[in-house]
Amino acid sequence: MNTLKPIIKTIGIIAFFYVISSTEIYAQSDSPIKITIDSEKHGPVINRHIFGQFAEHLGKGIYEGVWVGPESSIPNTRGMRNDVVDALKELKVPNVRWPGGCFADEYHWRDGIGTPEQRQTRINTNWGGREEPNTFGTHEYFDFLNQIGADAFISANVGSGTVKESADWLEYLTADKSTLANERAKNGHPEPYEVAFWGIGNEVWGCGGPFTAEEYLTELKKFANFSTNYNSEVNTQLVAVGPDATGFGEYTEVIMKAWSTKSWAWDIHALSLHRYTRNGWPPNLIATDFDEQQYAKVIEETLGMDEFITTSEVIMDKYDPEKKISILVDEWGTWYAPTEGSPEGYLEQQNSQRDAIVAALNFNIFARHADRVRGANIAQMVNVLQAMILTDNEKMLLTPTYHAFRLYVPFQDAEHLKIDYEAGTYKQDNVTLPRIDAIAAKGKDGKILLAVTNVDPSRKATIDLQLADQKITNATGETLYTSEIDAINTFDRPEHVSPKKLDLKVSKGKIKLTLEPQSVTVISIDTK
Ligand code: AHR
Repeated sequence: MNTLKPIIKTIGIIAFFYVISSTEIYAQSDSPIKITIDSEKHGPVINRHIFGQFAEHLGKGIYEGVWVGPESSIPNTRGMRNDVVDALKELKVPNVRWPGGCFADEYHWRDGIGTPEQRQTRINTNWGGREEPNTFGTHEYFDFLNQIGADAFISANVGSGTVKESADWLEYLTADKSTLANERAKNGHPEPYEVAFWGIGNEVWGCGGPFTAEEYLTELKKFANFSTNYNSEVNTQLVAVGPDATGFGEYTEVIMKAWSTKSWAWDIHALSLHRYTRNGWPPNLIATDFDEQQYAKVIEETLGMDEFITTSEVIMDKYDPEKKISILVDEWGTWYAPTEGSPEGYLEQQNSQRDAIVAALNFNIFARHADRVRGANIAQMVNVLQAMILTDNEKMLLTPTYHAFRLYVPFQDAEHLKIDYEAGTYKQDNVTLPRIDAIAAKGKDGKILLAVTNVDPSRKATIDLQLADQKITNATGETLYTSEIDAINTFDRPEHVSPKKLDLKVSKGKIKLTLEPQSVTVISIDTK
């Protein structure tokens, strides 16, 4: 009997591990994921402005990234580099937030208008102490917007400016008869400009202040009262500063409460939220050569955007149940440790397939909150943080994030649709994430759209796609996929990460497709 004991024990241990591992195998199994889109259940419009850009006077974001000057050997139109303009046109950029960021609260608009001799050289104290030549100013900004077809989103200087300076700027921009309007005409633009968004300060609890929420409220009321748009072609939305992910939640409460009982003398239309994926401060995540654990951590932090927005929505719903005030997440994106050897304060970082996934997941979150989130601006457009475009003098490349934005273009102003699926899970050490993440919408052209991200970097996902109420007749799609999660585009290999067309077969009104690991896919579906 005694000799049997160890044998029984061994069999027991083997059986135990067999059960555990088969449970694991079951959990990781690859049975198809069924996605059903209900094309009759329309939700709110996914406002095109959630695909907005942010361009600050910071590092090579404006100078070199957008502006090279009319004398440059880099092909340009009135100083704006043609390659960057052409690439941005493809994104149908809805708006560009400018001139900051922290820079906005030390920006004095008069420094950047008039003849070259009238432009003032200043020091960009926030960003590396670089000389700010002010050659790119108000008129250049609007020329650039016009070239790419985007709306204006200007952040006015509350921190070091005055109510009068801000009011004058808006009058200069939008009036059709006044001394300031005449001055604008003399500077080359007789027609009033259209200003879609007017930000009243930026991060006023920090670089743009600092103010407590109550102190800012006093400023906000004054600035809002005197922020007059004179151009009846557009309803300028006034944007108040709200919280960021590191705190300042009291801003939402204080501003919304005041707004709900406000007098006729002031108003706002939106509250700004800032949230970066950056794992604390100073940013310590690396942009390239990261391992799967770091990948999973970044995705986990990114998904926290949902809770961040929800927390603000709960407060806003209390004071504004009709959802009149929009949320604009007017700064978001990855913020990694800067590229080694890059100048101090330039916030230069590479951009990998992981960033494309971060972008897609954020789009999906914004879309799910479309009834309140009506705008967002990725930080930042060119050469800074999670950029669409990187330049090196005359060279230019499109990042994986650019491609994610391009794939999502059909979602601009599309109607959100109900979608059902079991996401499954992807596990990496102690991080558990949804294996896939998807949204659906009805595009302006009537096509049904599906965006689906396979978060898992190792496993393909098989999808059985169908519509709840009708048959699919045809579908086209593109996917952004690379075999390495930290794949990047470089000036030597600028197209290493780029979307590929999908070959989609419809059978009995349904589609079966395989999502590559760590991929972003957008499909456009016909039903007629
Ligand atoms: O995008 C870089 C900086 O991040 C912005 O200037 C500021 O608003 C934020 O803290």
